Amino acid sequence: MVFMELSTSDWFEDRDLPPILATIRPFTMVPHASLVDLARQTRVVLEQKIPGALVECGTWRGGSSFLMAKILKHAGVRDRKVWLLDSFEGIQPPEDVDGPAAKAWAANKDGPMYFDNLRAPVDQVQQTTRDLGIVDLTELIPGWFDKTLPANRERIGPIAILRIDADWYASVKCCLEQLYDQVVEGGFIIFDDYYTWDGCSTAVHEFLGARGVSHRLESIGDANHTCAVIRKGKTTWRWMQQLHLLGQDFLRCVPSREPLVLIDLDTVRFQLASGHRGLPFIERDGQYWGSPPDDDAAIVELHQARQRGLKYIAIAWPAFWFMEKYPKAAAELQNRANCLLRNERVMLFKLS
Ligand SMILES: C[S@@+](CC[C@H](N)C(=O)[O-])C[C@H]1O[C@@H](n2cnc3c(N)ncnc32)[C@H](O)[C@@H]1O
Repeated sequence: MVFMELSTSDWFEDRDLPPILATIRPFTMVPHASLVDLARQTRVVLEQKIPGALVECGTWRGGSSFLMAKILKHAGVRDRKVWLLDSFEGIQPPEDVDGPAAKAWAANKDGPMYFDNLRAPVDQVQQTTRDLGIVDLTELIPGWFDKTLPANRERIGPIAILRIDADWYASVKCCLEQLYDQVVEGGFIIFDDYYTWDGCSTAVHEFLGARGVSHRLESIGDANHTCAVIRKGKTTWRWMQQLHLLGQDFLRCVPSREPLVLIDLDTVRFQLASGHRGLPFIERDGQYWGSPPDDDAAIVELHQARQRGLKYIAIAWPAFWFMEKYPKAAAELQNRANCLLRNERVMLFKLS
């Protein structure tokens, strides 16, 4: 399958995400911070053209999956789908490996998070996909994972995001055994319950240990609700999120047609999520030419950038050392350019 080129400059998180979150909120128990992370992961998959489907195992009423589908819809994507897998009949009883908290949850039928043992009638969930205008971007697979995953995994194909929100040990283990190999290089596996239920974290560690894979588990969400994520590939989720947010910074501050000198473009390496054309600070014949040998050379490059009509210069977080290594160039930027933005990701200047 060929994945469509994305027009990257059509997503402003502050503007576009809140209305989507408000629409899907009634259909998910996942707290806000984890939904924001999921939205960003979905956007990173589109921006960096990480191929594959988006899959949620354990959807309940479908809200987290709807979030991903709404973001696909917003981006005009038609060649990816969100797969929703659930029994839609509720959850099986926890086992000893799931821990005492899981047993207590199952025993307390009046508890605020019991929700009729997590029953979510499939007809209602399907109806919601119609109401939200995402029928074409979603496919429901009702049934127990040990039957539905072997029967459908080939149809699902390569996976960019695998969100496992199935609570108990046996279910999480089954999802990993059936779908891990289909997650593409650069793709994400999110474990919603890693910090919540003992059985989930046990299943994750057992699986990764048995495979002998060295993925790093990263914590996402907030103190209220923390999930774990692994990314297949060399760079972490945290790095990818920084890049994505850097793109958002550029979108807000730099007109889309303006090229942008980015220090250090070679380290950032990925496509700029804003769609701006990034230029290296020193280029010779269109090629990245390394960092300036000394402060005077850095000043010369700054003057040349001005003469070439370049207006915007950004120093991204991996190159914040630039300001210390080249104090004269740093002073030139601070005194003779307009600082548009300074945060933990970027120092952005407009040359005057
Ligand atoms: C906590 S809920 C999911 C919450 C949901 N992701 C959301 O956005 O609110 C867990 C779901 O996993 C499903 N589930 C757990 N184990 C399963 C299995 N082995 N087969 C099918 N569904 C399962 C349950 O039916 C339940 O709906």
